[in-house]
Amino acid sequence: AANVFDHNLLSGCHVVITAGPTREAIDPVRYITNQSSGKMGYAVAEAAAEAGARVTLISGPVNLPTPTRVHRIDVVRADEMYDASMAVVGEGCDVFIATAAVADYRPTITSDHKIKKSTEEIHLTLVKNPDIVAAVAAHARRPFTVGFAAETHDVITYAQRKLENKHLDMIATNDVSGENVGFNSDNNALTVIWPGGHKVLPLAAKRQIAKQLIELIAIRYKR
Ligand code: CTP
Ligand code: CA
Repeated sequence: AANVFDHNLLSGCHVVITAGPTREAIDPVRYITNQSSGKMGYAVAEAAAEAGARVTLISGPVNLPTPTRVHRIDVVRADEMYDASMAVVGEGCDVFIATAAVADYRPTITSDHKIKKSTEEIHLTLVKNPDIVAAVAAHARRPFTVGFAAETHDVITYAQRKLENKHLDMIATNDVSGENVGFNSDNNALTVIWPGGHKVLPLAAKRQIAKQLIELIAIRYKR
């Protein structure tokens, strides 16, 4: 029923969550990153813990306190987030929720000294980072795997494509083109899609949205 959150919903489950941005170094003082605040991922970690799960939060650099009863592993680069994720999935976990805004590309070369200003134009070559959630979904010890997709247009079409291409069990998608959702906001609205169904979670506080998402995950995971 509405407003009744079951505190044993995920008891006995190990839930692993990636959150925040990653940071890809250009040189010792410069890096490439994105607008992720980590708030949604931290809210999901908190909600999973409140649902009785054992929670591991693999976090990029964010400015947020660790939720109560959550084990946090700090990483900086996408390849570190990948390694940490493969390590916990390799040990066995039940649910993996990829909320992180992983940098899609990293500089091909990271200079070990500060790059000096010289010519009028310089070129930065980037190489694609590994897809963490796709690797989790392809793992021999595959957990119930949930992705996120922040899109600015054709939201449902792109999310559906990611669900299929990455072989996910579920994807939570939000339209970040508006002003009241996504990134640094305290509110969010999600459309949650799985093979054969979907549910709209209307605009609400991220903590509230996170609880509803955890409920949906628990229902689909236990089927
Ligand atoms: N993701 C990931 N590893 C990456 C890139 C993305 O685990 N290297 C995960 C995100 O955490 C999210 C999902 O994949 O759960 C979708 O991320 P998104 O950036 O929306 O999709 P991409 O596949 O990176 O495609 P694009 O950015 O081009 O839309
Ligand atoms: Ca991306």
